[in-house]
Amino acid sequence: MSTHKTRLAIFCSGSGSNFQAIFHSLKKKQLNAEIVLCLSNRSQCGAIEFARQNGIATVHLTEKQFDSLDDFAAAMLECIRKQSIDIILLAGYMRKLPDNVVAAFQDKIINIHPALLPKFGGQGMYGIYVHTAVLEAGETESGATVHLVNEEYDKGKILMQRHVPVLPDDTSEILAARVLECEHKLYPDALEKFLAGQQS
Ligand code: GAR
Repeated sequence: MSTHKTRLAIFCSGSGSNFQAIFHSLKKKQLNAEIVLCLSNRSQCGAIEFARQNGIATVHLTEKQFDSLDDFAAAMLECIRKQSIDIILLAGYMRKLPDNVVAAFQDKIINIHPALLPKFGGQGMYGIYVHTAVLEAGETESGATVHLVNEEYDKGKILMQRHVPVLPDDTSEILAARVLECEHKLYPDALEKFLAGQQS
């Protein structure tokens, strides 16, 4: 058993409720891992606020701050390396990661997607759009997927999935809330299992 405490970075764009669920679960279960960096493409959002309140380093990084995607990727890698990050967690991060970053952290980047991949994944499938597509397709169940990130949108190896029902009166918002509740248990569980595999 390794004594090194796994250093996690979490990338978010929004409210950060998955971030909070993971943060609390790591503490409660006393896992040998901690979130030491929160990176966001938005300077103000729930995730950044939560990180600040909990003494976690924050970085605001967007493509717009750089002349090229290569420079953006280099800056992102520098932030990650400065903090000696072992694993990156995407939790509501609404941007595609630069390929260099994915290549540098092969099998060390995890994402949560609010549907049962491989269905309802890919470019443009994020947030509320996913739930609208699920309803429009007449699905009777949806759920969430935790998966490894590779260069293709939502195509990496699936680590864990959980199902929720789609009910007759669901709107996209109602379904989103049901899936999100499921995510708050799923992501910490999947991470715990993943860490156990890494640390054994
Ligand atoms: C979550 O539902 C997450 O699965 C989704 O954004 C929401 C973020 O909520 N992510 C995607 O759609 C990525 N393709 P949160 O900021 O409260 O964790």
